[in-house]
Amino acid sequence: MLGRQTVLAVAVLVAGTSGAATQGAVERGAYLVNTVMTCHNCHTPIGPNGPDLARAFSGGTPVFDTPAFRVRGSNITPDKQNGIGTWSEADIEKALRDGVRPNGVPLAPPMPTGFYGVLTSADGKAIAVYLKSLKASPNKVEAPVYNSHFERELFPGADKPADPAALQADKVKLGEYLVTIAHCMECHTPRIDGKLDFSAVGAGRQEFAGPWGTSIARNITSHPQKGLKAWTDDEIKRAITQGVSRDGSKLKPPMGYGFYARMTAGDLDAVVAYLRTLPPRE
Ligand code: HEC
Ligand code: HEC
Repeated sequence: MLGRQTVLAVAVLVAGTSGAATQGAVERGAYLVNTVMTCHNCHTPIGPNGPDLARAFSGGTPVFDTPAFRVRGSNITPDKQNGIGTWSEADIEKALRDGVRPNGVPLAPPMPTGFYGVLTSADGKAIAVYLKSLKASPNKVEAPVYNSHFERELFPGADKPADPAALQADKVKLGEYLVTIAHCMECHTPRIDGKLDFSAVGAGRQEFAGPWGTSIARNITSHPQKGLKAWTDDEIKRAITQGVSRDGSKLKPPMGYGFYARMTAGDLDAVVAYLRTLPPRE
């Protein structure tokens, strides 16, 4: 898991750009990428103690191996040969929002672009500016293999950029935005024949196998027994940021608790406010 010092180290890497506006965008981009959006989970090599931040965003692990494709988290540093150093800011934004590279080749679904179309234009740009400010890594990642067509799953409401004024005015809307870009519901929604069942958003049930054994995404709707209805706000926040369930038991990966731990208090409040509005599901 990501510790406090390591996040600060990442923040130091981005210092030194010129201009107050750019600096603001770099800071905002760093916040989104390193906390809420957990990009390290898939783009930073995994070491014995979790993501190895000395090699932040240089790719290679995890490997997603399915009959349709075999892909690895890409090197998303500005290296010209092995990273995305030749991409423009607009190219990066297009990849995030539409799931397509500058050369027209679609990104395989582990990259959760079906959730990122909702990014406000300022946030989309901030992420691109931040990625461009990273230290380039020459790490070469095995090329993706695509065996058959795959479909992109567009999360409801993520088809167009959110209105920043609406997010500022309404805590529940802000929470919905954050939960969408954090792709919480990609894990916490059941799949039928491999496809997310959007009629049961938040009901959980997907299984995740890894070195931790198997974990099953839980029901995070407002269901009185199976969901979070009876939990206090603090209990929900502790689960998200510390990986501790209501009964005190430790929660397993792959949820990125250590990244969410760095979310602002206001953003966490908004996430909880939104989760409470999710209709109860069995
Ligand atoms: C759940 C895993 C996952 C998360 C979270 C994730 N990515 Fe990815 N991403 C991938 C995978 C896997 C690929 C490679 C897909 C392929 O090769 O088809 C990828 C590809 C990319 C690419 C294209 C790189 C290239 O050379 O083609 C960019 C840019 C990117 N991700 C940026 C990000 C950013 C920024 C974030 C956080 C906002 C993020 N990703 C979050 C898994 C993820
Ligand atoms: C990569 C998949 C994944 C993502 C993304 C994810 N979760 Fe989870 N989450 C899980 C899994 C799996 C568990 C159960 C772990 C266990 O049982 O040990 C869990 C557990 C939880 C719990 C504890 C529930 C309980 O009954 O103890 C809460 C609350 C929660 N997640 C909320 C969220 C929120 C909010 C987000 C987004 C900010 C999120 N999760 C993102 C996979 C994920």
